[in-house]
Amino acid sequence: MSDGSAGLSGLADAAGAAAEKAKSLELSKVERHIFLCADADKPKCCEPSAGCESWLYLKRRLDELGLANGPAGGHVARSKANCLRVCAEGPVAVVYPEGVWYSGMTPGALEEVIQEHLIGGIPVEKHRIPNS
Ligand code: FES
Repeated sequence: MSDGSAGLSGLADAAGAAAEKAKSLELSKVERHIFLCADADKPKCCEPSAGCESWLYLKRRLDELGLANGPAGGHVARSKANCLRVCAEGPVAVVYPEGVWYSGMTPGALEEVIQEHLIGGIPVEKHRIPNS
């Protein structure tokens, strides 16, 4: 009968692996984090192709501009979300720590958010979701 200690040992190893990954991603330097709804299991806010196009654009531009955290040395983390629960007028995004929610995140609109919010620190009001 197992007492589970082998599993706990595995957890300790996992914690060490997480610390190593956090270091390689330079998570301690992240200043902003953008989440984008893309490729949802039940796509409601936009066509999956539109969400994926925006996600690929965001990843590419953050890399090109040296903004992506990790080896590029940037200060912006990005995460693809399955659904952000707004489910309308997507692709939908949210930027933290400000907690600014955006709709209609086409590549062109994302470029404005990248330049004005992620780089400039000023939310893009025309893409902001009212009441959010
Ligand atoms: S499916 Fe995009 S926010 Fe819900």
